[in-house]
Amino acid sequence: MAARISFSTKSGVLRAAAPLIELEARAMAHAARGESLLLASLIEIGSILTAQREKALPEIIQAMEKTKATLSATFGANGLESMALRHFCGTYFSFKQAAEIDVLLDYAHSADPKVRSLLIATTLSTASELVNTVGKHFAQPIRPHDKSGKIKPTLYSLAARDREKPVLMTFIGILEKYIANGSSQFENQVIRSDYAEFLESPEFDADIVYADPPYTRDHYSRFYHVLETLALRDDPEISNNTAHGRTRPSRGVYRTERHQSPFCIRSEAPAAFDQLFRLVASKGVPLVLSYSPYASERNAHPRVMTMEAVTELAKRHFKSVHVESVGNFSHSRLNKTDLNKEISYEAEYLLLCNL
Ligand SMILES: C[S@@+](CC[C@H](N)C(=O)[O-])C[C@H]1O[C@@H](n2cnc3c(N)ncnc32)[C@H](O)[C@@H]1O
Repeated sequence: MAARISFSTKSGVLRAAAPLIELEARAMAHAARGESLLLASLIEIGSILTAQREKALPEIIQAMEKTKATLSATFGANGLESMALRHFCGTYFSFKQAAEIDVLLDYAHSADPKVRSLLIATTLSTASELVNTVGKHFAQPIRPHDKSGKIKPTLYSLAARDREKPVLMTFIGILEKYIANGSSQFENQVIRSDYAEFLESPEFDADIVYADPPYTRDHYSRFYHVLETLALRDDPEISNNTAHGRTRPSRGVYRTERHQSPFCIRSEAPAAFDQLFRLVASKGVPLVLSYSPYASERNAHPRVMTMEAVTELAKRHFKSVHVESVGNFSHSRLNKTDLNKEISYEAEYLLLCNL
């Protein structure tokens, strides 16, 4: 006789997701034997929130409808208990992993405040370990088909690489690492804030400022939006995309009002740097600023400002500005194709700004 599994309110999301989880197990088993149609269709449809129904096989639509109905009956249509599943299943994680992330989030968010941050951080690291995208960050979800519409021959191995990772064991491994590392021996405080708001706030109390602003047009929120949503657990609206005359929810499941940094926008960066220099100088403390020289790599993502322009702005507010290379150094890459680009040395400079 099959064992009966009982689901608590916390784990009810797994019961709701069962039709999709079973279908996915079948899809992976077929794909392992070289028949990837079901797997490709499951990945192509996108998450419950962004589902492109016209591209899906009828059995997938049926399973999704069943899951949605159980979720609604258990938690309400937009219950936070099923947020990760509804937003990110299929697109970034397997259906099972997404439902299990919801369970972890439920435990983390309802835990004693003393351990809540540790459990949320462990859940975020778990999500980073599991994510199934080309570059292992939260952009560029897998495209199961090539341009001619054929299923990519590498689809199964790419999906199996991440989608079969066990959530609980991954979580426990990371939790053990976090506990073993303990907290810093130095006093520290973490503040989440816009740089200018923080520099102007009474909380600012420092003898020196080190700033490491973005230097390309790629907004960080493009690569971390899933982690942000999991951390906030706020069930945000999804932004739309218009392509070929059709508007639909973004394939990457981006939250609306995703943070756009002025440091990543050409027309806004000079004013953002000017404000950074002015506010730090007004506090009477020195500033160390990291920046990367303009297009030091062949094919590199262009820098928003040149080193020279940033240095000139700094000189308006600080008496002495020295530029020093940090030596041989290469930046982490955003995706695999970047591996082909020439590695740049002297990729990072420090501006030492004194009053
Ligand atoms: C080059 S990264 C810094 C990396 C960091 N030094 C580290 O080792 O993890 C740039 C950071 O600036 C943050 N950022 C962008 N615009 C900002 C703003 N207006 N206020 C505060 N932080 C901002 C981005 O979110 C990103 O985390």
